[in-house]
Amino acid sequence: MPEFTIRECTTLEDYAACIDLQRVVWQFDNLDITPLRSFVSARRNGGFTLGAFDKTGKLSGFAHALAAFDEKLMPYYYSNMLAVEPALQNAGIGIKLKLAQREHALKRGVSLMTWTFDPLQSRNAYLNIGKLAGVVRKYFVNYYGNQSTSALHRGLDTDRLFVEWWVNSVHVIDILSGKSRSERAEAALEVPRNIEVIKKRDIEEARHWQLKLRAGFQACLGEGLYCAGFEADPGGGNGRYLFFKNQIL
Ligand SMILES: CC(C)(COP(=O)(O)OP(=O)(O)OC[C@H]1O[C@@H](n2cnc3c(N)ncnc32)[C@H](O)[C@@H]1OP(=O)(O)O)[C@@H](O)C(=O)NCCC(=O)NCCS
Repeated sequence: MPEFTIRECTTLEDYAACIDLQRVVWQFDNLDITPLRSFVSARRNGGFTLGAFDKTGKLSGFAHALAAFDEKLMPYYYSNMLAVEPALQNAGIGIKLKLAQREHALKRGVSLMTWTFDPLQSRNAYLNIGKLAGVVRKYFVNYYGNQSTSALHRGLDTDRLFVEWWVNSVHVIDILSGKSRSERAEAALEVPRNIEVIKKRDIEEARHWQLKLRAGFQACLGEGLYCAGFEADPGGGNGRYLFFKNQIL
């Protein structure tokens, strides 16, 4: 794994590098780029951006979080972007950035961090639920509408899972320390290993996966189950979301 340092982004140069990375990772048009002034105002109002910098000081990845309140006015962080330079993906930078976000939250006494991700993205599911122990109790249909200019969002509705990461919970501490959940899963939903390949091959097949997952999540969450596990196939096959009855937070 390449050597890199994680530190908070604080300068205009740091934020400009985050903007460049957004273009590379999501291939957004200007309209969809989070601009420099949003990074500045997020930091001045309780949010924070962490960057992974290589030995030369170049930004290789970043995680951007906003200060937020839930409906009972409990403060939490909303992490609305995590990105790693394509050539350096799958080398552990993403998980290191998330763990650094957790440390930041723990130091400030913030117990919850949330974010959303596309349920069709198996890698994100494995990272967010399988490795970090985020849990999902909400499914949003076409969250951002169909206007996104990102290459990653093209051709499908922007359905999203809402992840809750209770950073100091038994579930998170257990999974991060390598323990697995002993309770048997009540239900499982399959997700394709690589939706991008399917999208390129046949967009109707990708839509079929989206509708199947949407219906499956709605049914499981509707029955009061919650998603608290993800099983990746070490052989490179499809992964599975796992649903449980008892909510250990
Ligand atoms: C999502 C992202 C931030 C993760 O960062 P990363 O540095 O690539 O992630 P990591 O290397 O820490 O972890 C990825 C894990 O998923 C595994 N993985 C890779 N492809 C996978 C797949 N198709 N299905 C399941 N797991 C997969 C990797 O092997 C790795 O696990 P391991 O460490 O146990 O081997 C990065 O890939 C990215 O920028 N993606 C595009 C933008 C995006 O989707 N951002 C997040 C939503 S806002």
